[in-house]
Amino acid sequence: MTQHLDAHNVQKTWQLEKPQKRLKVAVIGCGVGRAHALAYQALPDHFEMVSICDLDLQKAKKLALEVGALGFTADYAGLLEGSDLDVVDICTPPHLHVPMVIEAIQAGKHAICEKPIAACLKDVDTLIALEKISAKRIMPIFQYRFGNGLQKLEYLQKQGLLGTAHVATVETHWRRGAWYYEPEWRGKWATELGGGLLGHAIHAHDMLTKILGKVKTVYAKVATRVNPIEVEDCAAVTLEMHDGSVVSLSMTLGSSAEISRHRFVFSNLTAESNTRPYTSSADPWVFTGDSPEIQKSITVALEDFVEQPDGYTGQFLRFHHALLNNTSLPVTLQDARDSLELVTAMYRSARTGTEVQLPILTTDPDYNSWLPTSQ
Ligand SMILES: NC(=O)c1ccc[n+]([C@@H]2O[C@H](COP(=O)([O-])OP(=O)(O)OC[C@H]3O[C@@H](n4cnc5c(N)ncnc54)[C@H](O)[C@@H]3O)[C@@H](O)[C@H]2O)c1
Repeated sequence: MTQHLDAHNVQKTWQLEKPQKRLKVAVIGCGVGRAHALAYQALPDHFEMVSICDLDLQKAKKLALEVGALGFTADYAGLLEGSDLDVVDICTPPHLHVPMVIEAIQAGKHAICEKPIAACLKDVDTLIALEKISAKRIMPIFQYRFGNGLQKLEYLQKQGLLGTAHVATVETHWRRGAWYYEPEWRGKWATELGGGLLGHAIHAHDMLTKILGKVKTVYAKVATRVNPIEVEDCAAVTLEMHDGSVVSLSMTLGSSAEISRHRFVFSNLTAESNTRPYTSSADPWVFTGDSPEIQKSITVALEDFVEQPDGYTGQFLRFHHALLNNTSLPVTLQDARDSLELVTAMYRSARTGTEVQLPILTTDPDYNSWLPTSQ
């Protein structure tokens, strides 16, 4: 059983140190996998890209040449068997994630996996159990967490400056047209596993719960209004958090002006994200204190805030550090489980027209699948 040290003991300057070991990594899937590969390329002291894998060998070759990977292949099983690899980074369509992560762990590799890591809570629990008995680690992707705007809010929270939470609003208003649904797997329950609540707003909702903690109740309305797809592309959701605060979530994939926005209202301050759709967790965020004294405390506290790399680079750097120092991963399977529990509750609420209470129990039928029963 793996022992994990307390991540808070980590020195702030760790990312500047030249690491003792480069991890050998392969990226599987060349869509968003290209962004992963570029992030590894930006960390040459930490990672060596051994291979790029895609069923489309031309795509794999092109990306391997672009990022300077040592090789390329279309054969995932062969890659796991034959290569001297530490980590596989899985960026394939959602329905393939669980079997590919399991194969990687069984082959003795650490696994990084894009969201959503699993198709139901039961499958996440299978991965949690597998990680516990394995010497290898599994890290889901939530790269939006590492934007320095959100990190500043977390920092102020750790300093005890926020007060009590009153309310929050989260908007994920993105745009996806017919072009987006050209790949066979998108827009379908069986392969995408969900719509905008699972595939797009999941980042913004993870950012929300990172600050406000556990969700208590969920009431959701969903609709498919933008594209002719099976899954939802619009949603309005109300949450009651365990701390008593209340939250409104709004998601659409049909917004001509794309934005992502978080607004947190605490008794001591209001925090507002920037509204750039894909970098809303980065600076600038605006923190407005409830009095001149609180504003001063915010300013003084943020003077000590240390910026760290964000996005995929930030997550992979922290992953490398966690692996070499045996500390907690920057995103854990439990984090992914929490976000998928919220998704499960949102889908159940939307289907039944009722408020859903968390946690989702293992005896609940939705524990085994949130897909419609016709699937
Ligand atoms: N974190 C984020 O911000 C973010 C952004 C985009 C996509 N994603 C997630 O990443 C995953 C992939 O999405 P995408 O947009 O890159 O999809 P995509 O269709 O553009 O790319 C997927 C690639 O995987 C390859 N592939 C499929 N099966 C394979 C197999 N068995 N072995 C090797 N290669 C295989 C395909 O050929 C394709 O090139 C999805 O789960 C998606 O939700 C996350």
